[in-house]
Amino acid sequence: MRIYVCRICGEVYIGEAIPPSCPFCGAEKRFMVLGQVWQDENNVELTEVSRKNLEESLKLEISNTKFYNCLENVSSQTEIAKMFKGLRKVENEHASVFRKLLKPEKDPEVEEVCVDEAIVSLKDSKAREERAINLYAQAAQEATEPRIKEVFLAIMKAEKDHLILAEEMLEKYKDK
Ligand SMILES: [Fe+2]
Ligand SMILES: [Fe+2]
Repeated sequence: MRIYVCRICGEVYIGEAIPPSCPFCGAEKRFMVLGQVWQDENNVELTEVSRKNLEESLKLEISNTKFYNCLENVSSQTEIAKMFKGLRKVENEHASVFRKLLKPEKDPEVEEVCVDEAIVSLKDSKAREERAINLYAQAAQEATEPRIKEVFLAIMKAEKDHLILAEEMLEKYKDK
């Protein structure tokens, strides 16, 4: 058995082989390294623009975590409830990634509401993932710190996977 650590979120995976993507933040397999070589890369001197982008990103991830948490509890369709549970865990991990870079004194206050309407929820989910992708693409472009650029691109890829999922589920449930 081996101990793998994700270079993006710092979470630990124990197993025989590297999983296809980080089970916690969804970063690509190439970011998983052996525990013996992992090191903390999150002490970055932030530029003003990256600080602003990280603040906005943290708020977005907290908002999406709360939104998915709400849906996970109200959705009557099991597969959809499980999808939102999975997304809630990943978005919560993304909030934690941004928090490690930003080191804020406290989290922004965010409230979310939701309803048990599969199509409405999936469309809302799709829009939220698109918004995250656009924000992270811009933030990566504006970042002059290599670590910040890397993190935004890695998390953007995870949100692209979520967007594909939302689109596939919309297709699957559109007539139900
Ligand atoms: Fe990760
Ligand atoms: Fe996210």
